[in-house]
Amino acid sequence: MSQAQKGICAEPNLHALYLTFTVVDDDVQAMRAKLVRVLELFSYFDEEYYEAMVSGVIAVGTDYWYELYPRLIPQELAPFPSMQSDDREAPVTPGDLFIQIKADRTDICHAIGIEVIQLLKPHVDLYEEISGFRFLDGRDLTGFVDGTENPKGMHKFEVALVGDKDPEFAGGSYIHIQRYRHNMTKWQLLATTNQEEVMGRTKTDNVEFSSDKKAAFAHTKRTSLKDEEGKSVEILRQSMPYGDMSVQGLYFISCASSPKPFTDMLRNMIFADAEGNYDKLLDYTIAETGGAYFAPSVKFIKQQAL
Ligand code: HEM
Repeated sequence: MSQAQKGICAEPNLHALYLTFTVVDDDVQAMRAKLVRVLELFSYFDEEYYEAMVSGVIAVGTDYWYELYPRLIPQELAPFPSMQSDDREAPVTPGDLFIQIKADRTDICHAIGIEVIQLLKPHVDLYEEISGFRFLDGRDLTGFVDGTENPKGMHKFEVALVGDKDPEFAGGSYIHIQRYRHNMTKWQLLATTNQEEVMGRTKTDNVEFSSDKKAAFAHTKRTSLKDEEGKSVEILRQSMPYGDMSVQGLYFISCASSPKPFTDMLRNMIFADAEGNYDKLLDYTIAETGGAYFAPSVKFIKQQAL
């Protein structure tokens, strides 16, 4: 399989910088060449500051993909599945390019970000910049450990990367991003036992509730899906907390071999079943952004710049 971009399957880091751009000109030739230079920047910082565990991802927004690489389209490329039910909403927001920078040093994330912006500047507007950080022992700001059930080892690559069924795009990944803003006041008013019911896991020790003890509205119940053959539907989550003293939330990132798993999970979170159960976590957090991207392999980005 072609070499995937390092940041797709990277282990959790202490810091991240997420940059979302809109492209303002149609100089696709220049953009293709600059994306190679962004990859070179990631490699340079990775070698120079190897102890910081630097990794990066360049992902191209669905609409912009058709402009940037019009002759080669990933088989399952699809727009962000925006959806709404009652006051639960997954909006789509602008984003032609998404750059994820991760490292164990915040100064290195910053230094890479500055250089990426310098490189892309004439062609893009910065739509949003968000700094992510590790909170305690890998917890979301709700206080629950996030990422425990992520696929591990070699299985992680199977889940996150396109395989040989779309050979041109093998090593690429379908990326979905949502920036969630938590209502921390409301969440903190909820007793810990009720918070645990919402998540389907214990808070301090991070132990999963047995299936018969999990509420139908529990987040981990709503997102645990099986396909027609009874196999688990999986995504690789690269999410991290973000925020300051007034705004807090989760920068949610899904990487997968197809857009379908994320879409099915999101639908199951937002839409209620026949008994009226939806994902109760959505009573305490709202998605403020949403974007669908494709992160091609390193080889693809380099070949298309020639
Ligand atoms: C599990 C938090 C959004 C998919 C979890 C867990 C936490 C969590 C604490 C349990 C530990 C773990 O396995 O990671 C959050 C928060 C979210 C959010 C705070 C937003 C504010 C989403 C979204 C999706 C998703 C949007 C997919 C569309 C999953 C999956 C699991 C999971 C697949 C593992 C379920 C299992 O197999 O037990 N999440 N999550 N999450 N979440 Fe989320």
